[in-house]
Amino acid sequence: MRPAVAASALAPNYHPLPVTLATGEGSWVTDTDGRRYLDLLAGYSALNFGHRHPALVAAAHAQLDRLTLTSRAFDHELLEPFAQALVGLVGPLLAGTSHLVLPMNTGAEAVETAIKAARKWGYEVRGVPADRATIVVADGNFHGRTTTIVSFSSDPDARRGFGPFTPGFVTVPYDDAAAVAAAIDETTVAVLLEPVQGEQGVVVPSAEYLPAVRAACDDAGVLLIADEIQSGLGRTGSTLACERFGVQPDLVTLGKALGGGVLPVSAVVGRADVLEVLTAGTHGSTFGGNPLACAVGIAVVDLLTPGTLQARARTLGELVADHLADLMDRELLSGMRTIGLWAGLDVAPSVPGGPASGRELCERLLTRGVLAKDTHGGTIRLAPPLTIDPADLDEALTHLTAALTAA
Ligand SMILES: Cc1ncc(COP(=O)(O)O)c(C=O)c1O
Repeated sequence: MRPAVAASALAPNYHPLPVTLATGEGSWVTDTDGRRYLDLLAGYSALNFGHRHPALVAAAHAQLDRLTLTSRAFDHELLEPFAQALVGLVGPLLAGTSHLVLPMNTGAEAVETAIKAARKWGYEVRGVPADRATIVVADGNFHGRTTTIVSFSSDPDARRGFGPFTPGFVTVPYDDAAAVAAAIDETTVAVLLEPVQGEQGVVVPSAEYLPAVRAACDDAGVLLIADEIQSGLGRTGSTLACERFGVQPDLVTLGKALGGGVLPVSAVVGRADVLEVLTAGTHGSTFGGNPLACAVGIAVVDLLTPGTLQARARTLGELVADHLADLMDRELLSGMRTIGLWAGLDVAPSVPGGPASGRELCERLLTRGVLAKDTHGGTIRLAPPLTIDPADLDEALTHLTAALTAA
C-alpha cells in the first residue's frame, strides 16, 4: 500500500506569506497567477543585484556549458581567479597585509569555518590550552542554524529542543564595547560580531562601538571576526559595513549576495597568517569553490568593483530614511533604523486602522503588490535590490504608508 501523502510534503520550518512566485526580473517578481510584486526583501540581501542580473546569468550560462563541479580533489581554472578577485575587492578593507580566501557554500558554513580557523589559530599561535578556546559573541546575534551556531544564539526559538550545545562562547550585550573588553580573558581567541544585526531588525550600533571592539581585540591580541553575510557586498552603502565604522576586521564571512541570488556561495576572507592554520585535510567542502560558484562569484566582484552600487545604496537609502523619518513624525511607526539601503521598522500597534503586527503589515503589503518579511513580531526589514529603480522604490514606500494606516 502506498503511504498517505499529506497536503504538503514540506517540513513546517517556515511560515511563508501566501504567494507562489514563478518568475523574477530585476526588482520585480511575478506569481503563478501573473500578478507582479516589487521585492523589498531581496532574498535577505542575497539578491542585492536583483533577480537574474544579466551579467550573473550570462556568467552562469557560460560556465554551465564548460564545467560545473570538480570537488577540491582537483583544481579548476576559475578557483584561483575567484580568490584573487575577492581578495582584490575585500583585502584592502581587512587588517593585515596578506589575505586568503576559503570558499564554502552557505553562510552558516562560512561562520563555522571562521570559528574553526579562530580556534585552531588560538591553540597553535596564541598558545591557548587545548580545548579551552572561547569566542565572545553578542546578544541578539544571528549567524545561522547549525548546532554550534545556535549554541550561542539568544533566540529561544532557534535553540529550544536542539541541545546539547557546543561550549566555548561567551555572550555579552550588543553595542557594549566595555562588556566585550571585560569578557576577553586568556582563553579568548576571537570576538565574533555582525557589524549591523540584520535578523534582529537592522540594529545599527553606535559609531564608537566597532572601533572600541577593534581596540579591545588589539590590546588582547585576539581576532575580530565580522559576519558580513547579510551586511556585506554593498548593502550598507560600502563594500563592507565595517568600512562605514572605519574598522578593519581580521576575518570576514561573506555569503548571500556573493552568489548573486543564482546559487549559494560563501567564503571566509582574512589574514593569511590566520587562515593558513587550515592545512590540507583539516577542513573542506565538496561544493565549496566549485566552477559554477566561482564564475558567478567573479561576476559579483566585477559588479561591485566600480563602487557604483555602493554609492547607489547610499543615495537610495536616504530616500528610505527620509520617508521613514516622516512616518515616525506622524507616529505611524514606533521605531526605525537605517544604514545604506537597509531599514528596520517597528509597527506602532496603537495606530487606528494600523497593522497589529509585522506579519499583518507584510500581508497588507502583499495585497498591494509589495513583498517584505517580518522579523521578531513587530519589526519588518526592508532590503530592496541595490539596482531598484528610484520610481519603483518611491511607489513601494507610498504603499508602505498606506498599509500602515488602512488594510
Ligand atoms: C549575519 C548572518 N550570518 C549568517 C547567516 C546564515 O546564512 P545561511 O542561511 O546562508 O546559512 C545569515 C542568514 O541570514 C546572516 O544574516
